[in-house]
Amino acid sequence: MWFGLRKISRSVKIFVCESQLICILLIGQETRKMITVLEKEKVGEEDVQNAFLLENYLKMSDAEIAEHIELARKKLGSRVVVLGHHYQRDDVIRHADLTGDSYQLSVMAAQRKDAEFIVFCGVHFMAESADILSEPHQKVILPDLGAGCSMADMASVEQVEDAWEQLKEIGVISDKNTVAPMTYMNSSAAIKAFCGRERGVVCTSSNAIPLFDLYLKEFDKMMFFPDQHLGRNTGLKFGIPLEKMALWNPHEELGGNTEEDLHKAKLILWKGHCSVHGRFKPWHVEQVRKETPDIKVLVHPECMYEVVEKSDLNGSTSFIINTVTNAPSGSKWAIGTELNLVLRLQKQFPDKEIRLLAPDLCMCATMYRIAPPNLAWALENLAAGNIVNQISVDGETKHFANIALERMISLTEQNKAKN
Ligand code: 13P
Ligand code: SF4
Repeated sequence: MWFGLRKISRSVKIFVCESQLICILLIGQETRKMITVLEKEKVGEEDVQNAFLLENYLKMSDAEIAEHIELARKKLGSRVVVLGHHYQRDDVIRHADLTGDSYQLSVMAAQRKDAEFIVFCGVHFMAESADILSEPHQKVILPDLGAGCSMADMASVEQVEDAWEQLKEIGVISDKNTVAPMTYMNSSAAIKAFCGRERGVVCTSSNAIPLFDLYLKEFDKMMFFPDQHLGRNTGLKFGIPLEKMALWNPHEELGGNTEEDLHKAKLILWKGHCSVHGRFKPWHVEQVRKETPDIKVLVHPECMYEVVEKSDLNGSTSFIINTVTNAPSGSKWAIGTELNLVLRLQKQFPDKEIRLLAPDLCMCATMYRIAPPNLAWALENLAAGNIVNQISVDGETKHFANIALERMISLTEQNKAKN
């Protein structure tokens, strides 16, 4: 019988029940249906009463929160590693031990076997990948469970399996016609597991090119989830014409294609996109060029093809950082990617003229949910022995998703060693 209910935030409620358990229930959020159960014995009656409540952190000043974070980190010592994605806000990234793009962070998570807690300042799919790649004794924590990714939510494993079945039924996938699934890192663990089972692989924007190269040589066709733009932009780099790319809409029979279209296609693209990068439009490129003719336009390949086509350079988050870092003083850049990263580059390189490609705000709102109060709350709970917001992928999914992720890492590292 339940005897206590406390609301932590709009989407999280705590129930305390007679059976000595505290349950944190997430309300809504299809992709974050996990329930974290804490054993009351471990926490102790007293601590439960005085549990570190998020609402208390929300009342603190920025300086107080930073102090709490530092204190908790000191208490935890080497038991914790804090990872931060490049799109995180400055007041969070300053507390990260390691920063990187989604590929680098997955490798870092796999390498830090000593840390008992991996606190992931990123989004849900990144924390899931860290859990898949980590050791059984490690726990991955996402400071705000609402930090999801709208693109990842555009493909469910049920839809992907259904699409695969339909392609088999019409003979697009057969003994004579090999098709490999490839999923962008920005997808659920279940889709990564599907790729692991079907000889497929995971990719990120930083290794999509070498992985496309390998897979296009080995298979007759590829099906790419869930970002149509990264898939299309990468396919075009391999000379696949747009007529040989089919777009799969999961809400229509055969994805809205004819059988003939699907047989003809070399690349079948899932109809998903990033709502942040999708805001950059071709007219933004035209406008900045009109205003500043010698400006260079640098965009992420999650932008639509029509934007990428008009840009000077396109590439992953790390490519963008490296390009700006190595550019000469006085050079001018209009960058089509997440706002926090562009603002950080502006601060880091005051000798270069750096601006966001679009005049309006292009921020990843879900990344932004990881804020200093959530980080302080998570770290202080961990220091007190309360495991909060653990991201835990079930055993079977983990096994097969690990195959696809490890395949990505080993192929990427082999390719780097070759070049
Ligand atoms: P990276 O793979 O470049 O880190 O990008 C992740 C992401 O979510 C981009 O929108
Ligand atoms: Fe997802 Fe886009 Fe945010 Fe990246 S920027 S995490 S793709 S919503």
